[in-house]
Amino acid sequence: MQLGERPQGLLIVDLGTQYAQLIARRLREAGTWCEIHPPARAMEAAAAMNLAGIVLSGGPASVYAEGAPEVPAGLLELGVPVLGICYGMQWMSRTLGGEVEGSGKREFGHTEIQRGEDSSALFAGIEGSTIVWMSHGDKVVKLPPGFHTVASSATCEHAAIGDDERRFYGVQFHPEVSHSVRGKEILANFVLDVCKLPGDWKAENIAEREIEKIKKLVGETGEVILGLSGGVDSAVAAVLVHRAIGDRLHCIFVDNGLLRKGERELVEHAFRDHVGLDLTTVDARKRFVDGLAGVTDPERKRKIIGNEFVEVFRVEAKRFQDARFLGQGTLYPDVIESVAVHGGNTAVIKSHHNVGGLPDDLDMELVEPLRELFKDEVREVGRYLGLDERILMRQPFPGPGLAVRIAGEITQERLDLLAEADAICTAEIEAAGAHKTLWQYFAVLLPVKSVGVMGDARTYENACALRIVESVDGMTADWGYLDHQLLRRISNRIINEVKGINRVVLDISSKPPATIEWE
Ligand code: XMP
Repeated sequence: MQLGERPQGLLIVDLGTQYAQLIARRLREAGTWCEIHPPARAMEAAAAMNLAGIVLSGGPASVYAEGAPEVPAGLLELGVPVLGICYGMQWMSRTLGGEVEGSGKREFGHTEIQRGEDSSALFAGIEGSTIVWMSHGDKVVKLPPGFHTVASSATCEHAAIGDDERRFYGVQFHPEVSHSVRGKEILANFVLDVCKLPGDWKAENIAEREIEKIKKLVGETGEVILGLSGGVDSAVAAVLVHRAIGDRLHCIFVDNGLLRKGERELVEHAFRDHVGLDLTTVDARKRFVDGLAGVTDPERKRKIIGNEFVEVFRVEAKRFQDARFLGQGTLYPDVIESVAVHGGNTAVIKSHHNVGGLPDDLDMELVEPLRELFKDEVREVGRYLGLDERILMRQPFPGPGLAVRIAGEITQERLDLLAEADAICTAEIEAAGAHKTLWQYFAVLLPVKSVGVMGDARTYENACALRIVESVDGMTADWGYLDHQLLRRISNRIINEVKGINRVVLDISSKPPATIEWE
C-alpha cells in the first residue's frame, strides 16, 4: 500500500440495510479499505475514492415500491466490478434488462443453495451445496443479457448470478451475516479475485499510513493536545499521534472522581511510564463532586459533568499556547451514523452519550486518526503499537462514569462504596474467565436501604445491583449467565468487604426495553 495516498478500496452503497456496517467489516477483514455512502452521494463518493469495486447493499424495499431507493445507474458504467446483495442484485438485474417479480411468498432464514457448473470467481473454492441466509420477497426471474446463474436454491433459481465479462455479480442471500456459512469467503473472493485487490489493509499498514498522515497534517513544528479518557479510542489515537510527533503531543487526563477503582493509576502507568507520553493528570475530583451535590436527575447529572469537563479542559489547554491541533478518537461508525439515510434511532441513542465532547469554539484543527476505522481495527492497531492489553480490552465505560451508576444522589462516600463493590465484581468475573463472553459487567449503587443482620447487630445499609450483559454492539443486550458459585462469591465478598452495603441483587433485564446503564 502506498503510504499517504488514498488506499484502493470499495464503495458500499447503503440501500437501507441494517447490515451496512457488517458488510464493511467483512470487506475489511478480507483486507480492503471501504466506505459506506447513501445512494444520493454514491457517484460523488466513487469519484473521490481510489475505487476498485462497488457493493450494492440489501434494503427493506421492493424495487417496485414507491420510495424505493434510487440508485444512480452511472455506478454500472464506471468499469469496476459490482456485487449486488438482495435488493442491490434486484435493482441491478432490472436496470440491466432482467426481470424481477414479487414472489408473493417471503423467503426468510436458512436455505441450501447449490452451485452450478460455472467457474465464476465469486464462488471460487465453494463447490456443491452450502447454507445461506435469505431474507427477501421479490426475486429475479429473468437474467439480464450477459448474466448466468451461479447458484440456485429449491425456491430461488437465481440465488447467485454473474456476468464474468463485466465483472457484475449478484447474490439473493446475505453473505455478510454469519448464518451464511461460506459468506465470508464469497466476499473475500469478490475483494481478492474479482476486484483483484491485494488484501493489504492490515493493522501494520493502517498504523503506518495514519502516522504518515498525522506527520503531514501537523507539520514539523505543530503541537497537538489530546484528552485521554482511559478508553480504547483515545488511547490508540494518542499512541498514533505520539508515534508521529513525539513530545509535541500533550495529553490531558481529567480525574473527575467518577472513575473506577485503580483507573487513574492504570492510565498513568500505561501512558506515562510505558508509552512515555507527556501526560498531565488534572485532579478535578472535588469540582465534579461538588457540582453534582444534591442532583438526582440523570440528564442533569450528564449535563453538569459535560460542562465541567469542557471548563477543566479549556483551562488546561490554555497552558499549551502553541498547540493549534486537537486530537480525538472519533471512529468510523460515529461518522457514518451522522449521515444515515434510513430510519432507526441510532443517532438519537448516541446523542445522549456525547458527554465529553468539546465545543467548536476551541478553534483548533482536528486530528482524528481513527476516523476511518471500526473498533476492532482500532484494537488491532493498538496491539500493533504495543499498547497495554488491559487498556485495549477494557469494557465500554460511560463518559459520566460512576455518576450514572449511582441512582440518586452522588456523594464522595457513595462513590467510594460503588468503586469498591465494582472492583470486586470485576475482579471475580475476570479471575473466573467469565468475562470473555460478556460485553459489560459492573455494579450499580441503588437509592435503597434495607435491614440486615451482621453478627448480632442489626444493620440498615445500601443495596447494590450487579449488571452483567452480553451484547454485540451495545444497541441491544441480554443479561448474561453467571455460574451461581461465582455469583455467590461476588455477593459474599461485597457484603463482607464493603462496609455500607448489606444487600446485593442481580439485574435480569434485557435491552430493550431496559438499557444497559441504569441512568
Ligand atoms: P445504554 O445504557 O444506552 O448504553 O444501554 C449502551 C452502551 O453505551 C455505553 N454508554 C455510554 N458511553 N458515554 C459513553 O461513551 C456515555 O455517556 C454512555 N452512556 C452509556 C454503555 O456503557 C453501553 O455500553
